[in-house]
Amino acid sequence: MNVQPLLQNQSPQTPAPSGLASLPADMRDALQTLGAAGRLPEHVAIIMDGNGRWAQRRGEARTVGHRAGADSVRAVTRLAREVGLKSLTLYAFSEQNWQRPRAEVDVLLGLLVEYLASEIEELKRSDIKLLAFGNLQRLPLSVRMVLETTLAATANHKTMKLGLCLSYGGREEIVQAMQRLAVRVAKGQLRPEQIDEAAIEAELWTAPLGGPLDLLIRTSGEQRLSNFLLWQSAYAELAFVQTPWPEFRELAFAAALCDYSHRDRRFGGLGNARDED
Ligand code: FPP
Repeated sequence: MNVQPLLQNQSPQTPAPSGLASLPADMRDALQTLGAAGRLPEHVAIIMDGNGRWAQRRGEARTVGHRAGADSVRAVTRLAREVGLKSLTLYAFSEQNWQRPRAEVDVLLGLLVEYLASEIEELKRSDIKLLAFGNLQRLPLSVRMVLETTLAATANHKTMKLGLCLSYGGREEIVQAMQRLAVRVAKGQLRPEQIDEAAIEAELWTAPLGGPLDLLIRTSGEQRLSNFLLWQSAYAELAFVQTPWPEFRELAFAAALCDYSHRDRRFGGLGNARDED
Protein backbone atom coordinates (compact mmCIF):
# COMPACT_ATOMS: atom_id res chain seq x y z
CA MET A 1 0.00 0.00 0.00
CA ASN A 2 1.27 3.45 -0.86
CA VAL A 3 1.03 5.40 2.40
CA GLN A 4 2.57 8.59 1.03
CA PRO A 5 -0.73 10.35 0.16
CA LEU A 6 -2.12 9.47 3.60
CA LEU A 7 0.95 10.90 5.31
CA GLN A 8 0.76 14.06 3.23
CA ASN A 9 -2.88 14.57 4.23
CA GLN A 10 -2.09 14.25 7.92
CA SER A 11 -2.44 17.55 9.73
CA PRO A 12 0.78 18.49 11.51
CA GLN A 13 0.58 17.73 15.22
CA THR A 14 -0.50 20.84 17.07
CA PRO A 15 1.34 21.18 20.39
CA ALA A 16 -0.86 21.07 23.49
CA PRO A 17 -1.63 24.59 24.72
CA SER A 18 0.52 25.85 27.58
CA GLY A 19 0.55 28.83 29.91
CA LEU A 20 -2.63 30.91 30.16
CA ALA A 21 -4.00 29.35 26.97
CA SER A 22 -4.14 25.94 28.67
CA LEU A 23 -6.48 27.17 31.41
CA PRO A 24 -10.28 27.12 31.39
CA ALA A 25 -11.63 30.51 30.31
CA ASP A 26 -13.05 31.38 33.76
CA MET A 27 -9.70 30.74 35.43
CA ARG A 28 -7.89 32.75 32.77
CA ASP A 29 -10.32 35.67 33.26
CA ALA A 30 -9.98 35.43 37.05
CA LEU A 31 -6.18 35.65 36.86
CA GLN A 32 -6.32 38.58 34.50
CA THR A 33 -8.81 40.43 36.72
CA LEU A 34 -6.76 39.73 39.85
CA GLY A 35 -3.57 40.83 38.09
CA ALA A 36 -5.17 44.09 36.97
CA ALA A 37 -6.39 44.69 40.55
CA GLY A 38 -2.88 44.12 41.97
CA ARG A 39 -4.09 41.08 43.93
CA LEU A 40 -1.51 38.64 42.60
CA PRO A 41 1.87 38.14 44.26
CA GLU A 42 4.93 39.73 42.70
CA HIS A 43 7.41 37.16 43.96
CA VAL A 44 6.55 33.48 44.31
CA ALA A 45 8.95 30.78 45.48
CA ILE A 46 8.33 27.06 45.20
CA ILE A 47 9.64 23.99 47.02
CA MET A 48 9.18 21.50 44.19
CA ASP A 49 8.59 18.43 46.31
CA GLY A 50 7.26 14.96 45.59
CA ASN A 51 9.02 13.91 42.38
CA GLY A 52 10.36 10.67 43.84
CA ARG A 53 7.14 9.59 45.58
CA TRP A 54 5.10 10.41 42.46
CA ALA A 55 7.29 8.16 40.34
CA GLN A 56 7.45 5.36 42.91
CA ARG A 57 3.64 5.30 43.20
CA ARG A 58 3.57 4.66 39.44
CA GLY A 59 6.10 1.86 39.75
CA GLU A 60 8.81 3.97 38.11
CA ALA A 61 12.29 5.04 39.20
CA ARG A 62 12.50 8.24 41.25
CA THR A 63 14.42 9.86 38.41
CA VAL A 64 11.35 9.54 36.16
CA GLY A 65 9.68 11.90 38.62
CA HIS A 66 12.51 14.41 38.37
CA ARG A 67 12.21 14.38 34.57
CA ALA A 68 8.45 15.00 34.77
CA GLY A 69 9.24 17.71 37.32
CA ALA A 70 11.39 19.52 34.79
CA ASP A 71 8.28 19.80 32.56
CA SER A 72 6.40 21.35 35.49
CA VAL A 73 9.22 23.92 35.76
CA ARG A 74 8.60 24.89 32.13
CA ALA A 75 4.80 25.09 32.57
CA VAL A 76 4.91 27.10 35.79
CA THR A 77 7.57 29.50 34.51
CA ARG A 78 5.54 30.26 31.41
CA LEU A 79 2.36 30.95 33.37
CA ALA A 80 4.26 33.05 35.93
CA ARG A 81 5.51 35.30 33.17
CA GLU A 82 2.16 35.51 31.44
CA VAL A 83 0.31 36.58 34.58
CA GLY A 84 2.94 39.23 35.26
CA LEU A 85 4.91 37.92 38.25
CA LYS A 86 8.13 39.86 38.76
CA SER A 87 10.07 36.94 40.22
CA LEU A 88 9.79 33.17 40.48
CA THR A 89 12.31 31.35 42.68
CA LEU A 90 12.61 27.57 42.51
CA TYR A 91 14.31 25.21 44.97
CA ALA A 92 15.99 23.00 42.39
CA PHE A 93 18.81 21.45 44.45
CA SER A 94 19.47 21.95 48.12
CA GLU A 95 22.81 21.94 49.90
CA GLN A 96 21.52 18.81 51.66
CA ASN A 97 20.61 17.06 48.37
CA TRP A 98 24.32 16.21 47.91
CA GLN A 99 23.65 13.42 50.46
CA ARG A 100 21.43 11.55 47.98
CA PRO A 101 22.82 8.55 46.07
CA ARG A 102 25.37 9.61 43.47
CA ALA A 103 23.21 8.30 40.61
CA GLU A 104 20.25 10.48 41.64
CA VAL A 105 22.45 13.55 42.07
CA ASP A 106 23.86 12.94 38.59
CA VAL A 107 20.37 12.71 37.09
CA LEU A 108 19.27 15.92 38.82
CA LEU A 109 22.35 17.82 37.64
CA GLY A 110 22.00 16.30 34.17
CA LEU A 111 18.39 17.45 33.99
CA LEU A 112 19.49 20.92 35.00
CA VAL A 113 22.05 21.04 32.18
CA GLU A 114 19.42 19.72 29.76
CA TYR A 115 16.90 22.27 30.98
CA LEU A 116 19.29 25.21 30.67
CA ALA A 117 20.46 24.16 27.21
CA SER A 118 16.92 23.61 25.96
CA GLU A 119 15.37 26.69 27.57
CA ILE A 120 17.89 29.36 26.71
CA GLU A 121 16.02 30.37 23.53
CA GLU A 122 12.68 30.41 25.36
CA LEU A 123 14.19 32.55 28.14
CA LYS A 124 15.46 34.96 25.49
CA ARG A 125 12.11 35.05 23.65
CA SER A 126 10.25 35.66 26.91
CA ASP A 127 12.69 38.29 28.20
CA ILE A 128 13.27 36.28 31.41
CA LYS A 129 16.42 36.96 33.41
CA LEU A 130 17.91 33.84 34.97
CA LEU A 131 19.54 34.12 38.39
CA ALA A 132 21.21 31.39 40.45
CA PHE A 133 21.51 31.32 44.24
CA GLY A 134 23.59 28.98 46.34
CA ASN A 135 27.06 27.50 46.82
CA LEU A 136 27.48 27.48 43.04
CA GLN A 137 31.18 26.59 43.24
CA ARG A 138 30.13 23.13 44.49
CA LEU A 139 28.44 22.40 41.15
CA PRO A 140 30.43 20.37 38.59
CA LEU A 141 32.19 22.38 35.88
CA SER A 142 29.79 21.10 33.19
CA VAL A 143 26.85 22.61 35.11
CA ARG A 144 28.66 25.84 35.91
CA MET A 145 29.56 26.35 32.26
CA VAL A 146 26.02 26.10 30.89
CA LEU A 147 24.77 28.08 33.87
CA GLU A 148 27.26 30.91 33.21
CA THR A 149 26.28 30.96 29.53
CA THR A 150 22.57 31.22 30.35
CA LEU A 151 23.09 33.81 33.10
CA ALA A 152 25.11 35.97 30.70
CA ALA A 153 22.69 35.50 27.78
CA THR A 154 19.72 36.64 29.87
CA ALA A 155 21.45 39.25 32.07
CA ASN A 156 19.71 42.25 30.48
CA HIS A 157 16.22 40.79 30.43
CA LYS A 158 13.55 42.73 32.24
CA THR A 159 10.12 41.04 32.15
CA MET A 160 10.61 38.45 34.89
CA LYS A 161 13.40 37.08 37.09
CA LEU A 162 13.70 33.31 37.37
CA GLY A 163 15.82 32.34 40.36
CA LEU A 164 17.19 28.81 40.57
CA CYS A 165 18.37 27.78 44.02
CA LEU A 166 21.24 25.37 43.44
CA SER A 167 23.29 23.81 46.19
CA TYR A 168 21.23 26.24 48.25
CA GLY A 169 20.53 26.33 51.98
CA GLY A 170 18.85 29.16 53.85
CA ARG A 171 21.07 28.82 56.91
CA GLU A 172 24.20 28.67 54.74
CA GLU A 173 23.01 31.83 52.96
CA ILE A 174 22.61 33.68 56.26
CA VAL A 175 25.95 32.39 57.64
CA GLN A 176 27.81 33.59 54.55
CA ALA A 177 26.04 36.97 54.64
CA MET A 178 27.11 37.38 58.29
CA GLN A 179 30.69 36.44 57.45
CA ARG A 180 30.84 39.09 54.70
CA LEU A 181 29.44 41.72 57.07
CA ALA A 182 31.94 40.68 59.76
CA VAL A 183 34.81 41.11 57.30
CA ARG A 184 33.60 44.62 56.46
CA VAL A 185 33.39 45.46 60.18
CA ALA A 186 36.87 44.05 60.76
CA LYS A 187 38.22 46.18 57.92
CA GLY A 188 36.62 49.28 59.43
CA GLN A 189 34.29 49.68 56.41
CA LEU A 190 31.14 49.20 58.48
CA ARG A 191 30.19 49.98 62.07
CA PRO A 192 28.29 47.21 63.97
CA GLU A 193 25.33 49.56 64.52
CA GLN A 194 25.05 49.96 60.75
CA ILE A 195 24.08 46.29 60.44
CA ASP A 196 20.34 46.53 59.93
CA GLU A 197 17.81 44.49 57.92
CA ALA A 198 18.71 46.24 54.69
CA ALA A 199 22.43 45.59 55.21
CA ILE A 200 21.76 41.88 55.81
CA GLU A 201 19.41 41.60 52.84
CA ALA A 202 21.99 43.18 50.57
CA GLU A 203 24.41 40.35 51.45
CA LEU A 204 21.98 37.47 50.85
CA TRP A 205 22.39 35.41 47.68
CA THR A 206 18.88 36.50 46.66
CA ALA A 207 19.69 40.24 46.86
CA PRO A 208 19.42 40.63 43.05
CA LEU A 209 15.70 39.80 43.30
CA GLY A 210 15.29 43.15 45.01
CA GLY A 211 11.88 42.66 46.61
CA PRO A 212 10.05 40.76 49.33
CA LEU A 213 8.79 37.20 48.96
CA ASP A 214 4.99 37.21 48.76
CA LEU A 215 4.03 33.56 48.40
CA LEU A 216 5.90 30.36 49.18
CA ILE A 217 4.35 27.18 47.79
CA ARG A 218 5.38 23.64 48.78
CA THR A 219 3.94 20.80 46.77
CA SER A 220 3.24 17.21 47.79
CA GLY A 221 1.80 17.57 51.25
CA GLU A 222 4.78 18.15 53.55
CA GLN A 223 4.47 21.23 55.75
CA ARG A 224 7.98 22.50 56.43
CA LEU A 225 10.46 24.95 54.93
CA SER A 226 13.40 22.54 54.63
CA ASN A 227 16.02 25.30 54.85
CA PHE A 228 14.50 27.30 51.98
CA LEU A 229 14.51 31.13 51.98
CA LEU A 230 14.48 31.30 55.79
CA TRP A 231 15.09 35.03 56.02
CA GLN A 232 12.96 35.90 53.00
CA SER A 233 9.89 33.97 54.16
CA ALA A 234 9.43 36.05 57.35
CA TYR A 235 6.21 37.62 56.01
CA ALA A 236 5.52 35.40 53.01
CA GLU A 237 2.15 33.70 52.70
CA LEU A 238 2.60 29.93 52.86
CA ALA A 239 0.71 27.46 50.69
CA PHE A 240 1.12 23.74 51.28
CA VAL A 241 -0.61 21.86 48.51
CA GLN A 242 -1.16 18.11 48.11
CA THR A 243 -0.38 17.98 44.39
CA PRO A 244 3.01 16.35 43.73
CA TRP A 245 5.39 18.54 41.76
CA PRO A 246 5.25 16.49 38.53
CA GLU A 247 1.48 17.14 38.42
CA PHE A 248 1.76 20.77 39.49
CA ARG A 249 1.08 22.41 36.16
CA GLU A 250 -0.80 25.55 35.09
CA LEU A 251 -4.13 24.73 36.75
CA ALA A 252 -2.65 23.96 40.18
CA PHE A 253 -0.44 27.03 40.01
CA ALA A 254 -3.36 29.23 38.96
CA ALA A 255 -5.39 27.87 41.90
CA ALA A 256 -2.58 28.75 44.32
CA LEU A 257 -2.37 32.27 42.90
CA CYS A 258 -6.13 32.74 43.22
CA ASP A 259 -6.01 31.44 46.80
CA TYR A 260 -3.27 33.98 47.61
CA SER A 261 -5.50 36.80 46.41
CA HIS A 262 -7.88 36.09 49.33
CA ARG A 263 -5.19 36.26 52.00
CA ASP A 264 -5.25 39.21 54.39
CA ARG A 265 -1.61 40.23 54.77
CA ARG A 266 -1.19 42.20 57.95
CA PHE A 267 2.60 42.31 58.53
CA GLY A 268 1.97 42.54 62.25
CA GLY A 269 -0.55 45.37 61.82
CA LEU A 270 -4.32 45.11 61.66
CA GLY A 271 -4.83 44.81 57.88
CA ASN A 272 -8.47 44.39 56.87
CA ALA A 273 -9.48 43.68 60.48
CA ARG A 274 -9.21 47.45 61.10
CA ASP A 275 -12.14 48.08 58.72
CA GLU A 276 -14.36 45.63 60.60
CA ASP A 277 -14.29 47.55 63.90
C1 FPP B 1 12.08 17.10 45.43
O1 FPP B 1 11.51 15.86 45.11
C2 FPP B 1 12.71 17.69 44.28
C3 FPP B 1 14.05 17.86 44.12
C4 FPP B 1 15.02 17.39 45.10
C5 FPP B 1 14.62 18.50 42.95
C6 FPP B 1 13.73 19.28 42.06
C7 FPP B 1 14.16 19.06 40.68
C8 FPP B 1 13.39 19.15 39.57
C9 FPP B 1 12.01 19.59 39.61
C10 FPP B 1 13.89 18.76 38.22
C11 FPP B 1 14.98 19.55 37.64
C12 FPP B 1 14.98 21.01 37.89
C13 FPP B 1 15.08 21.96 36.94
C14 FPP B 1 15.18 23.38 37.33
C15 FPP B 1 15.05 21.65 35.51
P1 FPP B 1 11.93 14.59 45.96
O2 FPP B 1 12.81 13.76 45.13
O3 FPP B 1 12.49 15.00 47.27
O4 FPP B 1 10.56 13.89 46.12
P2 FPP B 1 10.12 12.93 47.31
O5 FPP B 1 9.88 13.83 48.49
O6 FPP B 1 8.87 12.35 46.78
O7 FPP B 1 11.21 11.94 47.52
